[in-house]
Amino acid sequence: MTVEANSGQIEYWNSAAGEKWAVNQERLDRQLSLVADRLFERSAIQPGERIIDIGCGTGASALRAAQAVGPNGHVFGVDISQPMLDLAKSRAGGMDNLRLEIADAQNHDFVPGARDLLQSRFGVMFFADPIAAFANLLTALRPGGRLSFVCWAAMADNPWFMIPRNAAARHLGEPEPWPPRAPGPTAFAETDYVTGILKSAGFGDVRVDTEACDLIGGDSAANTAAFAVNVGPAARILKLHSPSPETIAAITADVEAEMVPYLRTEGVRVPAKLNFVSAERP
Ligand SMILES: C[S@@+](CC[C@H](N)C(=O)[O-])C[C@H]1O[C@@H](n2cnc3c(N)ncnc32)[C@H](O)[C@@H]1O
Repeated sequence: MTVEANSGQIEYWNSAAGEKWAVNQERLDRQLSLVADRLFERSAIQPGERIIDIGCGTGASALRAAQAVGPNGHVFGVDISQPMLDLAKSRAGGMDNLRLEIADAQNHDFVPGARDLLQSRFGVMFFADPIAAFANLLTALRPGGRLSFVCWAAMADNPWFMIPRNAAARHLGEPEPWPPRAPGPTAFAETDYVTGILKSAGFGDVRVDTEACDLIGGDSAANTAAFAVNVGPAARILKLHSPSPETIAAITADVEAEMVPYLRTEGVRVPAKLNFVSAERP
């Protein structure tokens, strides 16, 4: 595999998308904090372990893993997005047991057999050739080493995607259908498909658990809606049409109305469906 294999994603994560994740890091990390808690529970990291964080982005899970493994362990975070990794590095400042590097997980030359755990929060669904990518990642694990990641289940089961997407489509027209397994947030929605990829890549004991987990939205439906139309599938539709401020306001108002049922005393909580995936190197 060559570096060019993921050139489309490299461009994507080094342009507006990567900048947006960096600018909104605090909000996104808060939004995904219960997801991270669930992932860490399942990964069961032990002090002294050596971990790779795949698609570490702005660093939330890599920093937390570095704290969990302690001074005798080590975390290697890899990502293809310079703006996101720059922020991760500035957040990490001074942690001796954490290395963050620009690298394509699909073809990076990892030290063979040196790691106990490969972990990722939403960073593994973007490979042009997922079997090749996971086969490459497998080489970095010692025999008996673990893989643990979380990815999105079906878009249709995730109101965080569907509400803004449908509002944008109502006002601007339906976008071209997105091929279900194409690199992107919901590429691994089908549990049999992701299981097959990992088995073909050489992993054993593959398990995919589809679970519900809340996303932490803003403190109001309006605030949550304004953010929701600015990211994800709605943002993609808006980018295609460059709508007027009035149309954006109308889309946002629709999203706000549909977020109201998710408003609780502590703020908006949007129910999500996620696939928690685990496997081992035989
Ligand atoms: C949805 S973001 C998640 C970021 C981070 N894990 C988090 O939860 O905040 C996906 C991340 O995967 C990274 N990524 C995509 N393809 C990659 C690849 N082939 N190798 C390494 N990182 C990749 C992107 O640059 C981006 O940072």
